[in-house]
Amino acid sequence: VCGVERVDTDLVARFRRARGDDRLVVLEGFHALKHALRFGARVRDAVATDVGALERLAAELAPDLAGRFAALARPVGGRGLRPARAARAADRVLALAERPPVDAATVLAAALGSAPVVLLEDPRDLGNLGACVRVAAAAGVSGLVTTGDRDPWAPEALRGAAGLHFALPVARAEAFPHPPPTDRPIVAIDPAGAPLRPAAVPAGAVLAFGTERAGLSDALLARADATLALPMTPGVSSLNLATAVAATLYAWRLR
Ligand SMILES: C[S@@+](CC[C@H](N)C(=O)[O-])C[C@H]1O[C@@H](n2cnc3c(N)ncnc32)[C@H](O)[C@@H]1O
Repeated sequence: VCGVERVDTDLVARFRRARGDDRLVVLEGFHALKHALRFGARVRDAVATDVGALERLAAELAPDLAGRFAALARPVGGRGLRPARAARAADRVLALAERPPVDAATVLAAALGSAPVVLLEDPRDLGNLGACVRVAAAAGVSGLVTTGDRDPWAPEALRGAAGLHFALPVARAEAFPHPPPTDRPIVAIDPAGAPLRPAAVPAGAVLAFGTERAGLSDALLARADATLALPMTPGVSSLNLATAVAATLYAWRLR
């Protein structure tokens, strides 16, 4: 727990343990808790320095959740809890929620609808990963799968996603399964592909995005049924990963 000033050792120990427990997630700040509650998270514990400020912000930004924060959050001493980046009193809230039990094979194998699955190959930056989850939730994809060792449910990713992990299935696999447990077409999104036109995105595709520095692996490019690029001005090497996910998903939404 970053920034706990006057030590409540129980509280610190509980949140620290939760960071290493793959059945739990740590939610930091008002927006993460707001979306978690709105999308049905089972919140086990919440502490806040100013429960009144939380409720006032809920009345303004999330009237559907009025009363929920006060019912959930235990007040902790004014100087007891200070998440480092919390500028507003209402963001000085930490919560523990149960992590939904979702696995990557199930997300990939889910019945082929028209909505795509987003596949992030070995994303490194957790804030960026969270931004991808947020845009995937907003666009209405059927799920998001990551590969590699980064936990997509890490607190930093939850914060980057404003808690929207609870709005769609999000899961991690060590590697993209071979053969894939799905009939979905695989579309590599890569700067070297053919220009992406909305109609070129097949229904129910797995849209694969590469790692921040190196891009998609040769193995994934070789397995793709199509490779599509977001056109860029000459001289620009690539878009940021979350930006590329956003542009691709909104092209799909406008098809
Ligand atoms: C920061 S980029 C990786 C850059 C890497 N050097 C490359 O050339 O692929 C991360 C990912 O975002 C996606 N991306 C970024 N810009 C793109 C573009 N213009 N067209 C298609 N995909 C793009 C790709 O999936 C890429 O692997």
